[in-house]
Amino acid sequence: MHHSVIKGVGHYVPDNIVSNADLEKLMDTTNEWIVERTGIEERCHVKRGSDDTPSTMGTKAARIAIERAGLMPEDIEFIIFATLSPDYYFPGPGVMVQQQLGIKEIGALDVRNQCSGFVYALSVADQFIKTGMYKTVLVIGSELHSGGLDMTTRGRNVSVIFGDGAGAVVIQACNDDRQGILSTHLHSEGKHAEELALIGPNTGRWVPEIIETNNPEDISYYPYMNGNFVFRHAVTRLIEVIVEALSTNGFKPNEIDLLIPHQANLRISQFVQKKLELSDDQVFNNIMKYGNTTAASIPIAMSEAWEQGRISKGDLICLAAFGSGFTWASALLRW
Ligand code: COA
Repeated sequence: MHHSVIKGVGHYVPDNIVSNADLEKLMDTTNEWIVERTGIEERCHVKRGSDDTPSTMGTKAARIAIERAGLMPEDIEFIIFATLSPDYYFPGPGVMVQQQLGIKEIGALDVRNQCSGFVYALSVADQFIKTGMYKTVLVIGSELHSGGLDMTTRGRNVSVIFGDGAGAVVIQACNDDRQGILSTHLHSEGKHAEELALIGPNTGRWVPEIIETNNPEDISYYPYMNGNFVFRHAVTRLIEVIVEALSTNGFKPNEIDLLIPHQANLRISQFVQKKLELSDDQVFNNIMKYGNTTAASIPIAMSEAWEQGRISKGDLICLAAFGSGFTWASALLRW
């Protein structure tokens, strides 16, 4: 059976940096509150009117990943795009990447698993490679949150957390079973679907009525998050799914070379690190600079870790995510 190896990784973030001090001018918040509760110091937001969209940012990250893999866009056989903030309600952004990369009419699949989206997408790609259906798959996580956030005091518990950006990996088939993705683990618990959700734009609402009402007080068009509830579930599920990945493959936490957790909140990562008794060298965090970029957070972090020399050939890497759904997932891989 074939194994999937990550051949190239890249990321792109918009150049408009929004600091906590910038947010203090828009809402009743403080740098101290944000840093103490989340660890976030700044995030990147797409400027209104810019060419950056989830698909174009995804394409920029993809071009870097493809180049680092030593490939050309036409070598890609299948595209998987994870996002909760697509360019359009439909079609999904995968097809736009196919067009923007200028490649032939290959398949493009969109994944809707929020913060766990990238790990879910990686798992799907891994299955295609294992069955021999494709040899080279492009997996993208990209988000544009800033255009959909309530940037007033009313929305401060959510809007200070999220940032924009994209990350991408190219995975390829390889016959060496000591390398590549060792296993992936996917979970969901739909009973908590509305604890972290964007309810407003949905097909259960009659569009003509929405247009007629046009109610500026309708906050259902902004994301809702039950922060404390999400926090408690996130730490439990992340630890569970990391241990599941390790025990499936006969490893202990101290054998991880680098844990790349979804960047939801620095306090969540620190809690997980402490419980698993991992050293600072074993955990990668960059939420301080980017905030929570949901499906983009793990590939952005992986790309930065690789650029900083924190990932070397042969390293045991664990990816773990938790988010809206609730969904949670992990992947263990040998770089
Ligand atoms: N600035 C200042 N004060 C704020 C604020 C902000 N940006 N956001 C909320 N507050 C206030 C609240 O209004 C509340 O005030 P009150 O006590 O007068 O009512 C107080 O701070 C505490 O709010 P609370 O929501 O209980 O804070 P918290 O300690 O739970 O921290 C989060 C909030 C969002 C940082 C935290 O719950 C969290 O990180 N949750 C998980 C988020 C996450 O990971 N989401 C993505 C999952 S993938």
